[in-house]
Amino acid sequence: MKVLILGSGGREHAFAWKIKQSPKLTKLFIAPGNAGTAALGTNVPIDVNDFDSLKKYVLEQQINMVVVGPEVPLVAGISDYFSNDPSLKNVAVIGPKKSAALLEGSKDFAKNFMLKHNIPTAAYQTFGRADLAQGIKFLETLKPPYVLKADGLAAGKGVIISNNLDEAKTELTAMLNDAKFGEASAQVVIEEFLDGIELSVFVLTDGKSYKILPEAKDYKRIGEGDTGLNTGGMGSISPVPFADDAFMRKIEERIINPTINGLISDGLKYAGFIFFGLIKVNEEPVVIEYNVRMGDPEAESVIPRIKSDLLELFIGIADENLEEKTFEIEEKHASAIMQVAAGYPESYQKGDEITGLETVTDSLIFHAGTRIDDNNIILTNGGRVLAITSFGNSMEEALALSYKNAEKIKFKGNYYRKDLGKDLLKFIKK
Ligand code: AMP
Ligand code: GLY
Repeated sequence: MKVLILGSGGREHAFAWKIKQSPKLTKLFIAPGNAGTAALGTNVPIDVNDFDSLKKYVLEQQINMVVVGPEVPLVAGISDYFSNDPSLKNVAVIGPKKSAALLEGSKDFAKNFMLKHNIPTAAYQTFGRADLAQGIKFLETLKPPYVLKADGLAAGKGVIISNNLDEAKTELTAMLNDAKFGEASAQVVIEEFLDGIELSVFVLTDGKSYKILPEAKDYKRIGEGDTGLNTGGMGSISPVPFADDAFMRKIEERIINPTINGLISDGLKYAGFIFFGLIKVNEEPVVIEYNVRMGDPEAESVIPRIKSDLLELFIGIADENLEEKTFEIEEKHASAIMQVAAGYPESYQKGDEITGLETVTDSLIFHAGTRIDDNNIILTNGGRVLAITSFGNSMEEALALSYKNAEKIKFKGNYYRKDLGKDLLKFIKK
């Protein structure tokens, strides 16, 4: 089987690394990919949102399956584009149709879906451009902190949490009236603040049955102790110590099952990953958001913990017989620490040489923002540069190995958080 992976981050390198191990794979392509994926398959310089060029390439190369990494092409309808075109009808797309991708593409749609299907989430109201005055009145009825969310995709930046009522009003005005996040903030969801600890849970589904992937904890802030600006993610840990069997059962009963059944009863065809962004409030799981793809940097600790053949699972999704596929998880703990460029998540430099990669033999290195130049030198090419993933018999052991190897990798201004997992030590039973 010939497979094309769309995307260029650590998530896509992790997919490529895993799919490459499948006996079912004959040829692997990644568009556009990075220096890490170049070592596993053919990088193809096509933008993930250029469907016409992707179509041409898929037909030329007789590709059988397209695995979609990021959300933007899914929300733009890449899955529909393929299934509506007779010449592409035999090409499987791992990723939901546009109508279901709205679970990530519109916060208002996701909130309505959760309300309709009794899935626990924060109380909310949605306001459009014409409703600014009502939105401001609504804020006045709430207690701080105030949570404002742009309805549409905003590259992870569309959520504003403020302790100050005046600031919240100013932000709401900027979002609705001044298009602070462009069309994405033509509507704003204002919701109840939830106080708790977050985790990410993933399923793979063919729209009928599902497999629950290992859960993970992501570290979003740039600074140690969860301080400073939000980033795409500074690392991840799997499993999550507080997600014990009883808690995972609650998640399955109250969140996963009603989501899958809700998709079926609403006629939303789904094929691919569902990412549940959850928060534990007291002992109860509550949904913060849905994403219609795998997480990044969660993929860099979760995918290596899947023992079964991921391509076989994807084939099960395409053939709608996922239920029959075996699914095994590695018991060991995995940790992924992300090395980023100086200045990230604000402006940062690209094009610096990365050295020491070949000296790391006992961890996996997933490239996120890298490229290879004409002299075969690997250069930084993004804010998040690479993830170092290690296994261990405990979270601490896995992290210690990642940190040991992080010291060996050098590029100008290289930064990583040194406190991953510290917040979880209190949950670990000795
Ligand atoms: P989202 O883009 O929906 O993932 O939101 C970004 C981040 O904002 C989440 O990961 C949470 O840390 C935080 N957040 C979102 N909604 C809430 C909420 N209702 N209460 C508390 N924190 C929230
Ligand atoms: N790590 C969070 C995300 O992928 O959106």
